[in-house]
Amino acid sequence: MTAMTHAELPKDMVTKAYARWAPVYDVVFGPVFERGRQAAIEAAERIGGRILEVGVGTGISLPDYKRTNKLCGVDISEPMLRKAKERVTEFGLSNVEGLWVMDAEYLSFPDASFDVVVAQYVVTTVPNPEATLDEFARVLKPGGEIILVSRVGADAGLRRVLEHGFAPAARKLGWRTEFPFARYVRWASRTDGMVLTERRAMPPFGHFSLIRFTKSSDPAALDLARPARQAIG
Ligand SMILES: C[S@@+](CC[C@H](N)C(=O)[O-])C[C@H]1O[C@@H](n2cnc3c(N)ncnc32)[C@H](O)[C@@H]1O
Repeated sequence: MTAMTHAELPKDMVTKAYARWAPVYDVVFGPVFERGRQAAIEAAERIGGRILEVGVGTGISLPDYKRTNKLCGVDISEPMLRKAKERVTEFGLSNVEGLWVMDAEYLSFPDASFDVVVAQYVVTTVPNPEATLDEFARVLKPGGEIILVSRVGADAGLRRVLEHGFAPAARKLGWRTEFPFARYVRWASRTDGMVLTERRAMPPFGHFSLIRFTKSSDPAALDLARPARQAIG
């Protein structure tokens, strides 16, 4: 368990928030997050294959993947997922294998099920981000990637003060405003086989980042990499 506890962003607060967002989500968050979504899809398609979108929401990005990819989607919010199912029907997305109500922290897929795990604007909305990343790593095949687009909190200055001040209100809306990049670095440094491979600033205002982790396909390399990875943290 990390310093950020379930009590600070309880799951029922998140599900209530997204039940409210579902009818208007695409209008409010469609354009503003578009570049981040496109960057994540582009990165995911460099690997391709069987892709899991966690926190797939209304399925806003599903039509943008090439049909050669097999897509699975999960979300904790039934109302958001209902919109995603309507979208799959509307666009005739025969490459979508399935959409399930599922908690990101407890995925009911076997180990090494996916070539890529994508989570756009999700990791800062879950109660236990590190345990959720552990679960992403578990269901990922060796050689695969976790691709996140996520809010990254400021390390210092006025923005950090504002983010901490706004945090209680943001939780009611279903997310965290404060979330230092050091948490991703620490997670990778303590997780066997996972290497942080990219961080790229994303709009709006560069407050979000595209973050990529690669799962090593060479078990012999894992132990050798550990001291270096620990040094980063
Ligand atoms: C900000 S929305 C992002 C939706 C979509 N990925 C996008 O790009 O617009 C966050 C989504 O994560 C989902 N979510 C939050 N906590 C979750 C959890 N523990 N397990 C699965 N999904 C979760 C919410 O229901 C919501 O649909």
